[in-house]
Amino acid sequence: MNRLSQQALPWIKVLLSQALVIAALWFLGDKIPVHGLLRLVLLGFVAAVIGRFMGLSWFWIPIQVLLPLAVAFNAAVPAWAYLVAFVLCGLIYWNSASEQVPFYMTNRKTWQAISDLTGEATSFVDLGSGMGGVVAFVSSAHPNLKAFGFETAPLVYLGSKIYMLFAASANAKVIYKNIWHADLADYDVVYCFLSPVPMPRMFDKAKAEMRAGTLLISNSFPVPDHEPDRIVSVDDHRQTQLYVYVM
Ligand SMILES: C[S@@+](CC[C@H](N)C(=O)[O-])C[C@H]1O[C@@H](n2cnc3c(N)ncnc32)[C@H](O)[C@@H]1O
Repeated sequence: MNRLSQQALPWIKVLLSQALVIAALWFLGDKIPVHGLLRLVLLGFVAAVIGRFMGLSWFWIPIQVLLPLAVAFNAAVPAWAYLVAFVLCGLIYWNSASEQVPFYMTNRKTWQAISDLTGEATSFVDLGSGMGGVVAFVSSAHPNLKAFGFETAPLVYLGSKIYMLFAASANAKVIYKNIWHADLADYDVVYCFLSPVPMPRMFDKAKAEMRAGTLLISNSFPVPDHEPDRIVSVDDHRQTQLYVYVM
């Protein structure tokens, strides 16, 4: 499946699940004694459940629930609200268009697996650190480690700075920095959770800069045409695979 159809697939599932519920409500008519606003909310919830069965992630639930309301009350929403929503999305998904790397987060079970791989390392970096969850967890688990995160999506970076105030220990730092400007020679363990697109370039950068024996760990996205030295399978809901390359 090409990238365009992969990106369109969730939206096709959303429209299909909404259409199924609209058709069911239309057939059942007054047999469903729920009307007006509640009917729209019911439509969204049932579509969200169907969407989950179709394999949509939990992330789509609020979108599915809000969609019928947004269509029905479209005229009541002021035009500036769409502009605000667009700008907010831009500040979060800053790197989606330019780097083809969207924003999503490593889960807790994977934090633990990364922490286990970190072992006796003294320096760690998460390239594209998102909300800083990995950096905070690994730094707390390894008090002697210096842990860094580099992030450039403005709102995500701001969120991670706030998160670090509460969740991270003193040996952790999130910096506003483009990952391609980082010198990977400074780190024993380099972690990234990006997308398939930048992996060949990232591996070239790692080979050129990382010291012998240090680790590059890629969540979910292997480097094409290069066998990883180890694959760690995490027992989480998405069956995460960590691809480990020893430099
Ligand atoms: C899939 S998220 C992973 C977030 C975090 N590492 C985690 O696992 O929870 C990828 C992150 O990389 C960031 N990113 C992508 N390209 C970047 C770049 N060139 N410089 C800095 N951050 C970048 C995105 O903004 C996004 O927050």
